[in-house]
Amino acid sequence: MVWTVANQKGGVGKTTTAVSLAGLMADRGYNVLLVDMDPHCSLGYYLGLDVESLEHTGYDVFVHGRAATREQVKQSIHATSIDGIDIMPANMAMATLDRKFGHTEGMGLILRHALNRVKQDYDVVLVDCPPVLGVLMVNALAASERVLVPVQTEFLALKGLERMIMSLELMKSSPSQNINYMIVPTMFDKRTKAANQAMVSLAEQYGNAVWRDVIPVDTRFRDASLEHLPPSMFAGHSRGVVAYRALLDDLIDEQVAARNGTN
Ligand SMILES: Nc1ncnc2c1ncn2[C@@H]1O[C@H](COP(=O)(O)OP(=O)(O)OP(=O)(O)O)[C@@H](O)[C@H]1O
Ligand SMILES: [Mg+2]
Repeated sequence: MVWTVANQKGGVGKTTTAVSLAGLMADRGYNVLLVDMDPHCSLGYYLGLDVESLEHTGYDVFVHGRAATREQVKQSIHATSIDGIDIMPANMAMATLDRKFGHTEGMGLILRHALNRVKQDYDVVLVDCPPVLGVLMVNALAASERVLVPVQTEFLALKGLERMIMSLELMKSSPSQNINYMIVPTMFDKRTKAANQAMVSLAEQYGNAVWRDVIPVDTRFRDASLEHLPPSMFAGHSRGVVAYRALLDDLIDEQVAARNGTN
């Protein structure tokens, strides 16, 4: 299965969501591939990789295009210090892809082709996106079966969400796309009126597309990133990790139900 974490609004918890779910799945013995589509390389830095010194990254996949062989894709994937988690890191050159290939036919399917070459090696692939709706996000969305849209529970973030959901709905209307998204409220601070109001607005506007629970504000996420550890391996009982565990359980239940045709 391939899951993508996307929102064109910055700082809403995309990378934290990707790395939290990856850590929780690795805890359960899954083999996880994290794919970084953000030219800022946040995932690689988070996991302590010296991204700039790497000869092969996800950029190679775009250079080889649809002709990329399994060996070439595998070269762009690196082990991390965490058992069960591999990464296809980004590099800064990926920021030039929009200008170079933004209008090239078929350019949106490069990542899908690449992941098809290596998917069998993993239980799950998790793709993290930049906060830009460009060729990288389009590739991530086209490659995935499930899209998670983290949204900060505050007024301005909800405004940004409208554009993101419009883009997803637009892609959904293409016959070759099967976009199935879930909005995940993040950084929820139950003491604030703004957060509670945001939850009401989300439910009114997006109904069932919103996850039933929330990811709370939890300062341990920032501490975990400083230690280059997935949050579950740093503070496994913190309330933020407990919430991501519930999210993962729901996502897996849903996947199982879909497979059994009961969804
Ligand atoms: N639930 C949370 N509670 C408190 N802090 C959080 C939470 N989730 C994420 N953060 C912190 O907020 C900051 C932004 O999170 P993150 O990097 O995951 O967002 P992003 O959407 O990936 O940002 P960008 O758009 O820049 O890639 C980080 O410092 C992270 O540690
Ligand atoms: Mg990020």
